[in-house]
Amino acid sequence: MEHQFAVHTNRLCKEFYGKNVLNRLEMKVKQGEIYGILGVNGAGKTTLLKLMAGLLEPTEGGAYVLAKNAWTQRDQVLGNIGSLIEVPYFYEHLNAAHNLSIHLRYMGMDADISKALERVGLGDVGDKPVSKFSLGMRQRLGIARSMIHSPKVLLLDEPINGLDPVAIKEMRDLFISLKNQGVTILLSSHILSEVIQTVERVAVIANGTLTLEANVKDLIVEHENNLEDFLIEKMRGGKL
Ligand SMILES: Nc1ncnc2c1ncn2[C@@H]1O[C@H](COP(=O)(O)OP(=O)(O)OP(=O)(O)O)[C@@H](O)[C@H]1O
Ligand SMILES: [Mg+2]
Repeated sequence: MEHQFAVHTNRLCKEFYGKNVLNRLEMKVKQGEIYGILGVNGAGKTTLLKLMAGLLEPTEGGAYVLAKNAWTQRDQVLGNIGSLIEVPYFYEHLNAAHNLSIHLRYMGMDADISKALERVGLGDVGDKPVSKFSLGMRQRLGIARSMIHSPKVLLLDEPINGLDPVAIKEMRDLFISLKNQGVTILLSSHILSEVIQTVERVAVIANGTLTLEANVKDLIVEHENNLEDFLIEKMRGGKL
C-alpha cells in the first residue's frame, strides 16, 4: 500500500524528568527522499530518531512510519526500518560477516552479506574481529547492518561520524543509490556542509520544535552568500 509519508510525527512531545526535549514537533518526510535533521548538541536529534524507531515512548503525540505508530504498532514497523542510532554496538569478538548474520537471524531474514560489506567498503576485512576495527570501520559496519534487510526507511544518526573524506563521498553515493531504489533516508548531522550536499530537504530542531524545514536547492538560491549564518541562526532558535 502506498502511503503519503514515509515518516511523520503528530504533535510529538518527549519529556525527560519534567524537561521538554521535543514539544509538539511536526515533521513530514516523503517517500523516497533524503531528509536531513540539523541541530546543536542536545537539540533532540537522537531522541527524535529513537522515537521514530520505536525505541522510546512519546510523552504525548506520536511518530509514524508508513502510517503505523512506531511505539504502539512497533511489530509492524520494525521490518520496514533500518537504524543506526548513536554508537553502534557489535559482538566485539566476532567478525563483520558474523555480526551481520546474527542480525539477519534476529530479523528473520536472509540477504547477501558479502555484497552488503562491499557496499560500505568492508569487502576485504576478512576474519578480523570487530574489537580491532577503527571508528570509521565500525561506522561502515553499522551502516551495512542498518540496510542489509532492505528496509524501506533508514534512520541514520550522524552516519558520517568518524568517516574519512573518501568514505564520506562513498556513503553519499550509497545513500543516493538507495534513494534511487525508493528507500527513504532520514539522517541527522551537525556538519552543515555535508547535509547541504547530501539531502534534498532539511529541518532544523531548536527548543524542541522545528525552526526550519526547507528544500536545500531553494535555500542555496535564497541564501547564496550567507547560508551557513542562516542555518546557525535557526539552530540557535530563530523562528520559522
Ligand atoms: N535517557 C535520557 N534521560 C534524560 N535526559 C535525556 C535522555 N536522553 C536524552 N536526554 C536529554 O535530551 C536532550 C536531547 O538529547 P539528544 O541526545 O536527543 O540530543 P542530540 O541533538 O542528539 O545531541 P548530540 O548532537 O549531542 O548528539 C538533552 O538535553 C539530553 O540531555
Ligand atoms: Mg545525538
